[in-house]
Amino acid sequence: MTDSILKRLNLKSSPSGRAIAQPMDEELVEMLYQHLTLERRASAQYFAISIWFAERDLSGFSNFFKQESFDEHEHATNFANYLVARGQTVVLHDLNAPKQNWDSIESVIADSFQMEADVTTSIHQIYASAERSSDTRTNVFLDPIIESQTQSEDNFAHILSRVQFANNQPSAILIIDGEVNSNK
Ligand SMILES: [Fe+2]
Repeated sequence: MTDSILKRLNLKSSPSGRAIAQPMDEELVEMLYQHLTLERRASAQYFAISIWFAERDLSGFSNFFKQESFDEHEHATNFANYLVARGQTVVLHDLNAPKQNWDSIESVIADSFQMEADVTTSIHQIYASAERSSDTRTNVFLDPIIESQTQSEDNFAHILSRVQFANNQPSAILIIDGEVNSNK
């Protein structure tokens, strides 16, 4: 719909030219763009990790991270759809190449845990910004995402404990490989 039609109907128009109920704070939109990039980066990183495990014939870990990569892509889609629903244009940033070298399984899982924690921090910052601009819709949108982040952190902390416990013994690593595969 064009701006003039929306004006005639006494409706507010958004940057993408759609009718909107509430305009969004610029800083909040910018933070959502940054977060969308973080989710896309996580997806690319998990894809790289899935490949790293496939190269080492640990197919359980490889499948687990392939699914994690799909999940992160789904999260990115979720944020893009939310921005569209709020009448914003979606800006996609450049992505750096993901990391592909690690010296142990422990380091891979530790990096994954840290990445999840960074994603949660970013969501908390967006949450606070949404509160500052009284954008309750964004807070409601983020609520289930925060809950699912807590579950992801718990999941990676658990896998990290199991891998540390295995202490690089091949038989123990193969058992965990089977466990993470069946959890997906
Ligand atoms: Fe995510």
